[in-house]
Amino acid sequence: MVTPRSGAHLDRNGRKGSSATLETMPAPSSAHPSPAASGEAPLDPSLLAEIESALSAFLAESDIPANLRAACLHAVLAGGKRLRPILVLESARAAGGSVSDAMPAAIAIEFVHAFSLVHDDLPALDNDTMRRGKPTCHVAFGEAMAILAGDCLLALAPVAASRSRHHGAEIQRELMSGSVRMIAGQVYDTLKGFPEGLPEARQVELIHHNKTGALLEASCRMGALAANAAPSALDGLTRYGRAIGLMFQIVDDLIDATQTAEHAGKATGKDAEAGKLTYPGIHGIDGSRREVERLRAEAEAGLAPLGASGARLRELVDFLATRTR
Ligand code: IPE
Ligand code: IPE
Ligand code: MG
Ligand code: MG
Ligand code: MG
Repeated sequence: MVTPRSGAHLDRNGRKGSSATLETMPAPSSAHPSPAASGEAPLDPSLLAEIESALSAFLAESDIPANLRAACLHAVLAGGKRLRPILVLESARAAGGSVSDAMPAAIAIEFVHAFSLVHDDLPALDNDTMRRGKPTCHVAFGEAMAILAGDCLLALAPVAASRSRHHGAEIQRELMSGSVRMIAGQVYDTLKGFPEGLPEARQVELIHHNKTGALLEASCRMGALAANAAPSALDGLTRYGRAIGLMFQIVDDLIDATQTAEHAGKATGKDAEAGKLTYPGIHGIDGSRREVERLRAEAEAGLAPLGASGARLRELVDFLATRTR
C-alpha cells in the first residue's frame, strides 16, 4: 500500500507548507508476494516484545540521573521498527544460534541507532522536530540534554555488547567500527570531505553505505558472531547486510521524496530542500527503484550459503524493498 505524498508537508521547522511534488513512488512489482506487500513488517511479535523488554531492562538498571534516563528512554522506547536488533537476532538464528545469546548485541546496536537519530535531528544537523510521530529528543528535553543522551546511549552500547556469550570482543569491535563508519557517513552527508574527484553518483553511494549501511551490515555480522557462525555463513550474512544496508537508505530517500510526514512519522520533502545528495536526486525515482531491485537480488545471493535457514531474512528483504515508512 503506497501512500502518496500530498503537496502539503512539514518543512524544516515542522510547519505545514507546500512544495513541488515529485511523482508518487510507483507500486513495487510483486514478483515475491509476501506480508511485505501490505507494508507490514514480517516480524515475529514475540521477538519484538523480547527486544522491547531487554532495552527497557538495560536502561532501568543503568546508573544515570533520572532526567538523563528519561531522555534516553524517550529516544529508545518511543516506537521504531527495531530493524537492527531484528537483523542481529535473525542473523544469529539463521546461523544456528539462539536469541538469548544474541540479545546483548541486539540491544547494543539499537542504542547506537537511537543515538544516531537523536544527534541527526539536532538543529546543527537535520533540524527536525518530529521523529516516530513524536517530538524529537531536543524538542522534548532541550538541546543540551539531547546531546548528552546521545553520548550516553553511544557509551552504553559497548557495555551492553560486552555481555555477549560468544566473541564478546569481536562483537564490540564490529559495533564500534560500524559506529565510526556511521559517523563518517553523517560527515559526508552534512559536511562533505569526499576523496577528490569522486563523481556524484559515487559520493551518494559512499554516504549511504556509511551513514546507514554500516550499522545494518554490523547488525548481521554481530548476529553471526553471537551464533559462533561458520566463516561461509559470516561471509554470506556480510554480503546480505551490505546490500540491504544501501537499499535501506535508498528507500528512506524515496520515502522522503514521495510520502507524507503524517504517514512517515517524520518530516518529508526535506532532502531536496536541504540540498542533500540522494538517490532520487541523482538517479530519479525509477532509477532508484531499479537499484533497489538490483540490491534485492544481491541480498538474496548473500543468503544462498544459509539455505532454508535464511527464510526469515529473505522475507525481510521484501519488506525492506517495499516499505513506505
Ligand atoms: C531511520 O532509521 C534513519 C535511517 C537510517 C534512514 P529507521 O527507519 O530504522 O528508524 P526507526 O528506528 O524505525 O524509527
Ligand atoms: C540518517 O539519515 C542516517 C543516520 C545516521 C541517523 P537521514 O537523515 O536521512 O534519516 P532520517 O530521514 O532523518 O530518519
Ligand atoms: Mg540526516
Ligand atoms: Mg535526518
Ligand atoms: Mg531520510
